[in-house]
Amino acid sequence: MIPQSSTATWRHEPPPQTVNGGEVPRKWNEAEAAQWLSSDTAAEMLDFPRRIAASIVSIDGNVSRILDIASGPGSFLKVFLEMFPDSVGIWHDASDTMRTAAEKELDSYASRISWVQGDMYNFAASALQPGLDVVLTSRATHHFTPQELAKFYAGIAPLLRSGGWIINLDHAYLGSPWDSLFRSARRELIPKKRSDDSAGHKHEKAAPEIADHIAALRNAGITEVQIAWQAYYTFLIVARKP
Ligand SMILES: C[S@@+](CC[C@H](N)C(=O)[O-])C[C@H]1O[C@@H](n2cnc3c(N)ncnc32)[C@H](O)[C@@H]1O
Repeated sequence: MIPQSSTATWRHEPPPQTVNGGEVPRKWNEAEAAQWLSSDTAAEMLDFPRRIAASIVSIDGNVSRILDIASGPGSFLKVFLEMFPDSVGIWHDASDTMRTAAEKELDSYASRISWVQGDMYNFAASALQPGLDVVLTSRATHHFTPQELAKFYAGIAPLLRSGGWIINLDHAYLGSPWDSLFRSARRELIPKKRSDDSAGHKHEKAAPEIADHIAALRNAGITEVQIAWQAYYTFLIVARKP
């Protein structure tokens, strides 16, 4: 059985001490989550890659069980629940604020959703059942170090059925000169809502590179990996378990 709720550490600010053998996790508070929700300007841009992901999976066959890790308001999960009307979805996130937002956003799919409040740095603790068809995540893994990214994908791989998909829509570090050039250009096209807006959370270090994602997936035994879409420094990676 999937637990309906479990405790989680929500990691975006340094805690008082190091844990997990030296990793320094980060933590948001709920006020920052609320600020992020009110300042998310990328919704229109990201609708397209979310639908690209669903279209690719739909060509491949039917889907019964979908997990969305760090789902937030549930926008990615919603696209898949709409595309696969016989599927059920697992919303996974650490935040009460996000759960409230997702319950509203996913209201018309409520009977098909399990709610799991858990920690993406240690989602083994959420005791999710294996045999998943699709694991989604978006705009969350850019907080990881390459080592945490490797641990994350290695933890997901056993949850997927053979032929199942892991799909990540996230930001990457592109190196010089592209990273700063693309960030400035994106701000021209998609301005922040407020001049003091830091999108509700801090980025203390550079995101992993796309190559880090590909390497970590391959190390987890997920060898069929492709970039399906990229705009500026945001990319959609689709990968299928052999
Ligand atoms: C930038 S939001 C992205 C939300 C959603 N995936 C999207 O793209 O619209 C990042 C999400 O990660 C969640 N999060 C942060 N730390 C987490 C943790 N340690 N475990 C699980 N979720 C976490 C936040 O609650 C938030 O919903």
